[in-house]
Amino acid sequence: MRNACSTAILRILVGITCILIGVSACSKKETLLLRTAEYRTWEKTTPDILDYPIPGHEDKYRRIFISPEGYTPGITAKGGRTYYSFPAGTQIIKEILDPSWNGTDPPLMLTGMVKKPEDPRARGGWLWIVYVPKTGKEMVITEEFCITCHANANEPHPYGDKNRKNEFRDYVFFPPSVDSGPVKQDSSY
Ligand code: HEC
Repeated sequence: MRNACSTAILRILVGITCILIGVSACSKKETLLLRTAEYRTWEKTTPDILDYPIPGHEDKYRRIFISPEGYTPGITAKGGRTYYSFPAGTQIIKEILDPSWNGTDPPLMLTGMVKKPEDPRARGGWLWIVYVPKTGKEMVITEEFCITCHANANEPHPYGDKNRKNEFRDYVFFPPSVDSGPVKQDSSY
């Protein structure tokens, strides 16, 4: 995982620079795939702001929202292993926040997964997307680095409930049905 991570970080930086300067050739579509206007009304997959460091995020904070299509993913057992499957149309949006975030400011960036298996740009059935609010641009990442790291979600890993049972989690580190399902919005932030 480590080698994949450093390559991944480099590629993320290149990709992000690309959308930060607003090079339109970088984005293949003008209409946004991510439902950026509504995602803050969706339920969250983790109750709290994530503030522990993970590769590629420096000291940034994160919150994760999931669209209603994905509140209860399909769960099947095959050959002694549990498999999660999120329906087409599911969107999972992770906000990247400044650690001094005041509770209302727009995020620095969104990273998103959109379940769209029939799209040729999909990897593992998901479109992997980066969106920068300042420029209003999003970019679909067709390089393998997002999915390469997210494949770690399909085996035991250090985050959340740690997936100790080695379930196939459909590339999602924090699936909503672990523990008590998606987290209802509350007034704390
Ligand atoms: C080096 C590993 C790594 C790479 C590369 C990576 N992620 Fe993640 N991602 C994580 C981890 C770990 C989490 C769990 C939440 C957290 O701690 O922020 C996560 C969470 C997410 C989530 C919330 C869904 C979930 O898995 O719980 C989305 C959406 C997401 N990442 C999108 C992306 C996109 C898009 C890319 C490529 C631009 C990407 N990620 C690249 C490690 C990575």
